[in-house]
Amino acid sequence: MANSRRKLIFNIYIGFYCSAVIQICICSQFTSSSIDQFNKDLGAFPVAINGEIFPWHELRLPTMVIPLHYDLFVHPNLTSLDFVASEKIEVLVRDATQFIILHSKDLEIMNVTLQSEEDLRYRKPGRKLTVLSYPAHEQIALLIPEKLMADLRYSVAIDFQAKLADGFEGFYKSTYRTLGGETRTIAVTDFEPTRARMAFPCFDEPLFKANFSIKIRRESRHVALSNMPKVKTIELEGGLLEDHFETTVKMSTYLVAYIVCDFNSVSGTASSGVKVSIHAAPDKWSQTHYALEASLKLLDFYENYFDIHYPLAKLDLVAIPDFESGAMENWGLVTYRETSLLFDPKTSSTSDKLWVTRVIAHELAHQWFGNLVTMEWWNDIWLNEGFATYMELISVNVTYPELQFDDDFLDMCFEVIKRDSLNSSHPLSNQAETSTHIKEMFDAVSYKKGACILNMLKDFLSEEKFKKGIIHYLKKFSYRNAKNDDLWSSLSDDCLESDSTSGGFCYSDSKPASNTLTFLQENVEVKQMMATWTLQKGIPLVVVNREGRSLRLQQERFLNGVFKEDPEWGALQERYLWHIPVTYSTSSSNAIHRHILKSKTDTLDLPEKTSWVKFNVDSNGYYIVHYEGHGWDQLITLLNQNHTVLRPKDRISLIHDAFQLVSAGRLTLDKALDLTHYLQHETSIPALLKGLEYLELFYHITERRNVSDVTENLKHYLLQYFKPVIDMQSWCDKGSVWERRLRSALLKLACYLNHAPCIQKATELFSQWMESSGKLNIPTDVLKIVYSVGAQTTAGWNYLLEQYELSLSGAEKNKILYALSTSKHQEKLMKLIELGMEGKVIKTQDLAALLHAIARNPKGQQLAWNFVKENWIHLLKKFELGSFPIRMIISGTTSHFSSKDELQEVKLFFESLKAQGSHLEIFQIVLETISKNIKWLEKNLPTLRNWLLISI
Ligand code: BES
Ligand code: ZN
Repeated sequence: MANSRRKLIFNIYIGFYCSAVIQICICSQFTSSSIDQFNKDLGAFPVAINGEIFPWHELRLPTMVIPLHYDLFVHPNLTSLDFVASEKIEVLVRDATQFIILHSKDLEIMNVTLQSEEDLRYRKPGRKLTVLSYPAHEQIALLIPEKLMADLRYSVAIDFQAKLADGFEGFYKSTYRTLGGETRTIAVTDFEPTRARMAFPCFDEPLFKANFSIKIRRESRHVALSNMPKVKTIELEGGLLEDHFETTVKMSTYLVAYIVCDFNSVSGTASSGVKVSIHAAPDKWSQTHYALEASLKLLDFYENYFDIHYPLAKLDLVAIPDFESGAMENWGLVTYRETSLLFDPKTSSTSDKLWVTRVIAHELAHQWFGNLVTMEWWNDIWLNEGFATYMELISVNVTYPELQFDDDFLDMCFEVIKRDSLNSSHPLSNQAETSTHIKEMFDAVSYKKGACILNMLKDFLSEEKFKKGIIHYLKKFSYRNAKNDDLWSSLSDDCLESDSTSGGFCYSDSKPASNTLTFLQENVEVKQMMATWTLQKGIPLVVVNREGRSLRLQQERFLNGVFKEDPEWGALQERYLWHIPVTYSTSSSNAIHRHILKSKTDTLDLPEKTSWVKFNVDSNGYYIVHYEGHGWDQLITLLNQNHTVLRPKDRISLIHDAFQLVSAGRLTLDKALDLTHYLQHETSIPALLKGLEYLELFYHITERRNVSDVTENLKHYLLQYFKPVIDMQSWCDKGSVWERRLRSALLKLACYLNHAPCIQKATELFSQWMESSGKLNIPTDVLKIVYSVGAQTTAGWNYLLEQYELSLSGAEKNKILYALSTSKHQEKLMKLIELGMEGKVIKTQDLAALLHAIARNPKGQQLAWNFVKENWIHLLKKFELGSFPIRMIISGTTSHFSSKDELQEVKLFFESLKAQGSHLEIFQIVLETISKNIKWLEKNLPTLRNWLLISI
């Protein structure tokens, strides 16, 4: 359909081209009706910079010409901060045409020539082409005097140059400071999703896969890295060197990468012989060892798990000093923010270690999910990001079981539920056309919901079958592109008809695991089921009503902040229906019972009488459960009597669901709070922390709103209730991952609440640290707490800022910056913002996190918000609209608001941005979130107040 539309436009264009360039031919080209058509459509064509009509009006490129191979030469100058470059693109013409449309942004195109295969054979010089530029679509048109013939290959040569970009996109400059205080510059690329076009003119869409042969010219003090291993280095006159890299495998433009730097590296060899290296600025070399160990383990894991070799001979992981996101999976040359790759045993905490491990696991998973098999278009970016996030769980559980990542994964699902239960959410597979909209697709829904529904499907099919299915998918679509449906076909019995020869997976050819037997017999349509999770937004609520042995199930759309009695509730429910693979356990057996709830209501009969039923076993399903009648009371009694009867994750999910149901007006807050009473006896740390998280959240809400009586009582309650476990904590780094995380969480809370013993110990450690000139090693679990307490005096704050500048550890810098942002002095907070805007001491890459941190501080919330409003234009000069930092700045400085005045203020600001042409999905999310907060407080503040009065 899209193709035929494009061809039509092409035909119209021929007429137009004649009229614009060879005036007389117009009559012979068109019948009168087609001339009408042409005249009508003429207006639809945009105008190029030079005033001529640009021959293409769509954002997506035509498919008449496709790239096969790029020969790319780049010479960056790290002194003048620019680059000159040239490329030869070998293209195949699929339909005859008189123009080639390419992407290009902010590049100065100097010369373009075209050679046919015949020209090349007879060494005829290229014919010079006219170039038109249409910046609004980031496209250029190469006009061909004579038609390019279908099924023939041509070579397009382009000379171009540009400045190294200022921001974080395209081919940009990054700087770092050495121990000796010298500032050095490197040049690095970051292309996903649509920024390869800033580095070289190209067919910058994921479907246009091609091979790339890259050459980089550099000075001898630098090294050059690219996707592939280096083949040779040529010495040039004047001392310059030119590195030639092997030709890449077939891949999308957004995965191309190159770096010119003076970094050092450590290397090792994976079991398959792939050379793995970690690169970092010379003084940070000592922080690279953990990453090497982890990437070797993870690469081995993935090669085995997928039963597909990593196809390149080397894999480089590079810590970049200025990086917008967390990391980027360029094939063979993965780039990371320093804090996502480097591990400093002296200053990195267990959470930092888990983060580094996760990011490496995520980007290596992309080498298969994303690089080898790529989504056809950005609407299905969840196929990349959801899978890479899901694979973090699978790979880290096996390679680093001691990190106990499982419970974090569950938390991640809870995080996205918050977002997905707002009406402003979007389906996983969502339309995306403009660059801004495409960027916005990299959000919690694509990453987290994607991963959570894959985990649900795995639980439903059994890990073994799910794994076979995804291997089948990877093998079938290697070096190609895929869409939603292709994945489900690989996972369902459709594959019986498919052409799979190896790794083929079908229901009938593998023995079902016992717990999935019933479903296999029912011959479940995976595709049909998964369509309900990927094509409609939101999350279902399963309402359970038990009467004797009969369970009545009902599904509806779960809406956070919209109550059943609200007038809009009904309309928001219309046409929503999921195929929910529900699971449950009962008091009478340990077995996991399964059922697919495909209709609005359903009834199940229990084989025997039971005292309780718990749905969503281990919280593997992406749905919330409400127990009507006495359901919740029975579960609360059970938790109080013997909570260990339920599995730890089931306890976590009960706490989570109960508080979600409060926000949806389905459960009273005191009931949810009563549920937390058993926590005194809770033996699972993640469950304990989950309960604590909600109580802390309420503390922060009331503190921000200056509801002092409730804040004081909550403080009292928290310190009294958790005192035994707070007092048990020692100021060291001992214990399992969760013991260490409990220590960090409890001491952080205790010091935040001004608990005297905590403040005293932290002050003592901070003084010792200052006296030792920052040389004393403070246990990493409590480092942030000690710094935060230290930052409350002016001397401490100033000293921390000095240390911030000197520190070579990103993990430490993050902790210091957070501590600095907790100051109660507005002039200090303002100074931080100024430093962040200047981008020298506090790098621009950390500005969004800084503004977010300041906005979380009750003394900084207004400051941060006012700053954003007044400096929006300046912020947009630093980050692109739709980019992650811009979204983080918006939501980080507004979504905690909970009053009508604040809502009005935010609304007005968003209106003014829209009037200026900036429209983002996050605006609606924020407005809904604030409305939800207002409603929550109106409904629940009196209940919280009363509950506290009777509980302390
Ligand atoms: N492919 C992304 C990088 C990216 C993010 C490109 C946003 C374009 C827009 C990369 O694989 C990624 O997901 N990075 C994450 C880290 C990950 C561990 C969640 C990031 O940058 O936050
Ligand atoms: Zn990713």
